[in-house]
Amino acid sequence: MKEFLSEKGSIYIHLDWRMNSYVRLLLDEILGFDNFQREIIWDISVLSGFKSLANNWIRGHDTILFYSKDTNNIIFNKQTTEHREEYIKRFNKADKDGRKYFDGRGVKRYLDEVLEKGKPIGDVWNDIMSFQQIPTAVERLPYPTQKPELLLDRIISASSNEDSLVVDFFCGSGTTCAVAEKLNRRWIGVDLGRYAIHTTRKRILEIANSKDLNDTSKKYGKPARPFEILNLGKYERQFWQVKAFNRKDEKQALYEYLAFILKLYGAEPIAGSSHIHGKKGNALVYVGAVDSPVTIQEVNDAMHDCKEMGQKELHILGWEWEMGMNDTIKDVAKQGGIKLLPITIPMDVLEPEAARKGDVRFFELAYFKVDTETDNKDLKIKLEDFVVPHTDLIPQEVKDSIKKWKDWVDYWAVDFDFKNDTFNNTWTSYRTRQDRKLNFTAKHTYEKTGTYKVLVKIIDIFGIDTSQLYEIKIK
Ligand SMILES: C[S@@+](CC[C@H](N)C(=O)[O-])C[C@H]1O[C@@H](n2cnc3c(N)ncnc32)[C@H](O)[C@@H]1O
Repeated sequence: MKEFLSEKGSIYIHLDWRMNSYVRLLLDEILGFDNFQREIIWDISVLSGFKSLANNWIRGHDTILFYSKDTNNIIFNKQTTEHREEYIKRFNKADKDGRKYFDGRGVKRYLDEVLEKGKPIGDVWNDIMSFQQIPTAVERLPYPTQKPELLLDRIISASSNEDSLVVDFFCGSGTTCAVAEKLNRRWIGVDLGRYAIHTTRKRILEIANSKDLNDTSKKYGKPARPFEILNLGKYERQFWQVKAFNRKDEKQALYEYLAFILKLYGAEPIAGSSHIHGKKGNALVYVGAVDSPVTIQEVNDAMHDCKEMGQKELHILGWEWEMGMNDTIKDVAKQGGIKLLPITIPMDVLEPEAARKGDVRFFELAYFKVDTETDNKDLKIKLEDFVVPHTDLIPQEVKDSIKKWKDWVDYWAVDFDFKNDTFNNTWTSYRTRQDRKLNFTAKHTYEKTGTYKVLVKIIDIFGIDTSQLYEIKIK
């Protein structure tokens, strides 16, 4: 994080009494003792309930350590709050013109000036409630350490400007990103949890949704700007290529890669065909490359070899897929009398511990169907079906609560003019905790006639993405 941090930047770390002292020493070492700025005490005391039973001083605060990259060159916008009533009461004298003031050690202070300036905020914060104090807050999502937006508002307002970039490398439910967005900062959120990313994505989109605006959103009241979601898995995967490069022996590295994936999938390697790599029971197995999506051409080649070998079932393992794969290819396979399963290689194979324990699970690609209808320049896309293929691993009580295919869908979005790069959410519908309804028909009006690529993305209730590409002619 230090490497990425701007020369004018700051870092804030929220800790409780267990880690506070250790992390502080680490930060002194990493950022330098001189870059320690403040230890902020965040008063989160809850006076009633379980905590106050302790026969001790009741524990009531967390710590936020504030460090800078360079103490002589730091963005800091002083924050103020309202003065306390007891202080205001001291301004009990008045000038001839009625202007109220207060004498303190020979200095005359005027109430109007004092009120205008506000009270500079110190390093003890007792005016921001934690979710332990307000468990029913609207912005609350089911994240145990979620922070209130007001806390992030104070930190981001003080330590960044509008052109700054705010980063939370452990973004959880996305509080930092949401507040940075509302404060017009650019932002990056990172998390290894698929669900955290999904929660954050919905939360940012929610900013646009004025009907659900919570208190802090109301204060800023404007929709979020477009943002992108990127998956770094591809870069991690390239470790196999690095291996090949180091050894100057690509063939050996490729062989190791195939053997590794086949083993985790429970298949045996077989030789003799360039488009078939293994065998699992009666099925033949093809393993897609590390650094590129499996193409329809590759699948056709593997199907060809499968037929030549007199086999009827083919499993294609891939990290990523050429758009439209599932729909197109299954039809082709059926015509050729082959049972085809496209299976996604899970990111878990990169975790040595999971791979060693055999905890890695492979899932079949989800399937969905839409109906498209055009009328002049209007396009209607209706979601008609969605099939989660990996139901054997889903807990029974979840399965029991699913009554129809629609219940698997948590979110769906359409980019009506996909340009082969970034997915632009031109249209979305998703469930929130308050509103469980989804709209299953997306509509769009094009400005110009032409052929458009339309990308439909569905995210199921487990946070797993599936996308399909359609070509639409607007006449
Ligand atoms: C305490 S929550 C984050 C809270 C959030 N920063 C906030 O201010 O509200 C911690 C998050 O870190 C994520 N996480 C844990 N280890 C990680 C890692 N090595 N890389 C990225 N994210 C990680 C977890 O998935 C979890 O969502």
